[in-house]
Amino acid sequence: MFDFVQSALTRRSFMLGAGGLAATATLPYATYGAKSPAELNLTAAPARWPLVGKPHPATDVWAYETRIPGPAIRLQQGEPVRITVKNELPEDTTVHWHGTRLPNAMDGVPGLTQKPIKPGESFTYEFTPPDAGTFWYHPHADSLRQLGRGLAGALIVEEREPVAVDRDVLWVLTDWRLTSDAQIASGFGNAMDAGMAGRIGNTVTLNGAISTDETVRAGERVRLRLVNAALARIMALQFEGHRPLVVAIDGQPCDPHRPEGDRVLLGPAMRVDVVLDMQGEPGHRYRVVDDFYEGRSYWLTRLAYEQKAPIRISPLDAPLALPANPLPQPDLASAERHELRLQGGMMGGGMMSGRMMGGGMMGGMGMDMPGMSHRAVWAINGQSMTGDGHAGMPPLLTVRRGCSVALTIVNETAWWHPMHLHGHSFRILKRNGSSIPHNLWGDTVLVPPKERVEVAFVADNPGDWMIHCHITDHQVSGLMAIIRIA
Ligand code: C2O
Ligand code: CU
Repeated sequence: MFDFVQSALTRRSFMLGAGGLAATATLPYATYGAKSPAELNLTAAPARWPLVGKPHPATDVWAYETRIPGPAIRLQQGEPVRITVKNELPEDTTVHWHGTRLPNAMDGVPGLTQKPIKPGESFTYEFTPPDAGTFWYHPHADSLRQLGRGLAGALIVEEREPVAVDRDVLWVLTDWRLTSDAQIASGFGNAMDAGMAGRIGNTVTLNGAISTDETVRAGERVRLRLVNAALARIMALQFEGHRPLVVAIDGQPCDPHRPEGDRVLLGPAMRVDVVLDMQGEPGHRYRVVDDFYEGRSYWLTRLAYEQKAPIRISPLDAPLALPANPLPQPDLASAERHELRLQGGMMGGGMMSGRMMGGGMMGGMGMDMPGMSHRAVWAINGQSMTGDGHAGMPPLLTVRRGCSVALTIVNETAWWHPMHLHGHSFRILKRNGSSIPHNLWGDTVLVPPKERVEVAFVADNPGDWMIHCHITDHQVSGLMAIIRIA
C-alpha cells in the first residue's frame, strides 16, 4: 500500500508543511531519478484524520494513503509516470489529474474516458506531464461525496531548472461542513446547495488541519503554491503587511503581477502560485484573511516570523518569472467561436449571504437523464448533464483536432462559476469585452454573475473532454458538458 517512493514523497511534503527552511534545490527531488517511469501507488480508503484537533475527535474521512490531503505527488516535467490507484472505498471511484494535459484515456472520467474502478480493484494511470506547475488530483466519480469527504491531493510538476526561491511551500486549502462532534455533516446534494452557492462549509483547513501559525523567516523569498480543493468555497486571500506577486495560475506561468487589491482570488479547483518576500518583523505575526463572502471574513492562518535576524535585508535579486510551458498559442484570427451560456440556479443572491429573491428554482430545464440521482437545476446552452455524466451523452460541441477555439462563457445566472476544461489549458483573454493583462492561462476560470469571459485554446488533444463548473453541487446538477475533439 505504501511503497518506498511514496513514503519519501510524503516525508518531503511533511517537511514543507512543518516550515523547514531547506532551500528548494537541496530537497530530494531526485527520488524519481533511479526509475523511469516513476512508479507510485495511491490507495483510496476510509480513514480517520484529526482535522479539528483536540479536544474534538478525529473525523471519519475518505482519504488517499490515509492522509488529508492526499500525499503531494511531485513529478518531473517531461518524465513519464505510472500511478496505480487502488480502490478500497465502498463504491466506484476514478482519479482525475486536474489541469494536466494527458491522453484522454488517462483523464479519469467514469463512463466517458474509462470504466470506473470498482471496490477492491485497481487502475494504472500512465502519462508524461508536459507542463511544470501546481496541479491537483481528485475523484471524478460520485464527485460531491468523494471530494467532500476528503479525497484530494496536490500534484506538483517540477521545473527542469529549479526556481530561485528560498522555500517552496504548498498550502492545500479544504473546506468542510462539520457537525459539532467534528464529523462530516450529511445532506450532500440538497436542493439549497445545488441551486445556490454549493456546499460551503464551516471549517477551512490548511494541509489537513486548522492552522493558526505558519512559520516564516524574515528576509526569505517563498514560492507559495495555493490550491483551492474546496467543494464550493471561493477564497480571496489577503496577506496583511505583505504584497504577494502572482507568478502562475492553474500551474501556468503568467507575467508576475500584483493581483487586484492585493487579494488572491481562488475559485474551487484553482491554483495560484505567489512569490512572497518576507519583509515583516522578526517575532511578529501577520494574518492571512479570506474575505470573499461579504460579512463572513475569517483568518485562515498567520505568517509567524521566527525571532531571528533576517536572512537578507532587501528582497532577493533574482528573476520572478517562471520558465514558460510548451503551450500551443491559439490563432485568434482563424479560431472557431462558440458561446457557452450558463443558465439556471435559484434566482437572485449572488453572494452566499444574499437573499433569495422572486422565483426560486428554475424547473424542468434540459433533460434529466434516467439513472441519475441529481436533479438538473443548471444548464449550458439549454442542456444539462448531471451526476458523473455518462457514456453516450452527446457532445455540446465537436471541434476538429488542431483548430483554435475561442469560447465566450456567458454567465446568465446570479451565481459565481469556476468553469473547468479538461485536457487543455486556455488563454484567458477578455472579461466583459476588455482585454485581461499579464498573459494569463488557466484550466479553470472564475466567471462572476452576469459577466462574460472569453478564453481560447488549441484543440490539439483528441477525445471527449468534460467542461464543467467546479462548484461540485453545480457540476452534478447540470453545469457540465462535453467538448469532442476529433
Ligand atoms: Cu477537477 Cu472535471 O475536474
Ligand atoms: Cu457553478
